[in-house]
Amino acid sequence: MNNHITIFDTTLRDGEQSPGYSMNRSEKLRLALQLEKLGADVIEAGFPIASDGDYETVREIGKVIKQSTVAALCRTRDIDLERAVSALEFAAKPRVHTFIATSDIHMKYKLQQTREQVLESAVKAVEYAKSHYDDVEFSAEDASRSDPQFLIDIFTAVIEAGATTINVPDTVGYALPWEYGELIKTLKEGIPNIDKAVISVHCHNDLGLAVANSLMAVRNGARQVECTVNGIGERAGNASLEEVVMAMETRKNNMNYSTSINTREIYPSSQLLAQITGKGVQPNKAIVGENAFAHEAGIHQHGVLKNPLTYEIMTPESVGLTCNKIVIGKHSGRFALCKKLEDLGYFLNKEHLNQVYVKVTKLADKQKTVEDHDLISIMSMMNDMPGEGHGRVASGG
Ligand code: KIV
Ligand code: ZN
Repeated sequence: MNNHITIFDTTLRDGEQSPGYSMNRSEKLRLALQLEKLGADVIEAGFPIASDGDYETVREIGKVIKQSTVAALCRTRDIDLERAVSALEFAAKPRVHTFIATSDIHMKYKLQQTREQVLESAVKAVEYAKSHYDDVEFSAEDASRSDPQFLIDIFTAVIEAGATTINVPDTVGYALPWEYGELIKTLKEGIPNIDKAVISVHCHNDLGLAVANSLMAVRNGARQVECTVNGIGERAGNASLEEVVMAMETRKNNMNYSTSINTREIYPSSQLLAQITGKGVQPNKAIVGENAFAHEAGIHQHGVLKNPLTYEIMTPESVGLTCNKIVIGKHSGRFALCKKLEDLGYFLNKEHLNQVYVKVTKLADKQKTVEDHDLISIMSMMNDMPGEGHGRVASGG
């Protein structure tokens, strides 16, 4: 089986649906270009029926993106489909992504439709999309809470109608990794024409399991993962693109999958999104958080400065950061302080380093971290100390 995993980025659609993350057209265009540079195979540009703005934005993105496939989301209604098809008019690689809910609870309370009606509507939608474009994705919304046999029936029918990707969303983030993996396996084994379509997964993070569920699905045969930069998305978010990709990169010894992502564009993409939306990334966020490569504890700093692999499972450079971050705080040792001072141009002998160390730890007790400007001000107060180029000493920490 092919081990290449298609990365479907939905930052501009599902990501934008999260409160406080809406973006205007030019911001979306900037982000779309960055996602293309990142190497996303598919960029879901928006939900054209949602507003005229979304429609126009999908059209504009379709005009400028040349390498990535551009997807437009739509329900199975005629008016939605027409809007999506039209929005993709100029895209070099267009994909219509149509969806309808398949769980009993959604069909009964939200759609008020029977299984037969839902299946018929899905098939009609795929046929319509297929009459315009080759690349058609069908999503069974709330798939993880749907009857697996109904999923087999509806996916078989939409593949027959021309769907090239079938998506199995864990819409409400309810699935557990082993359950979700089992579901993917059941579908792979139970859908007779599955060789004509790619199985895709789309996991929400309500239980903090979106990435684990996505990886478990891949292990069981999924070959497209839908995800977002910084893990943004409805409620608790979607599977984070950087976590999915870096898990595969870092643990190649355990799971041998490849993606087209240029991992060095991960950090720039994360920062661009944060800058555009004005929403910072949580500091301890895996891969792209401010602290992901920061070390404050003395023992860790010592180890990382000697050999980064002691406390880092991937290099900061591999995700586009220029270096790891040594943070001077009350847990830091002399070794890291010495290194930091050298970076700032102060080369001290052992005695002077000890004096500075005492001052720094006192300050670190009062404030959380000691910044570069604090160190410079400590150094400027210690007049009799050597400046740049003097008295370097290698100290233990
Ligand atoms: O979470 C979900 O089910 C979705 C679909 C529209 C793919 O976002
Ligand atoms: Zn979603």
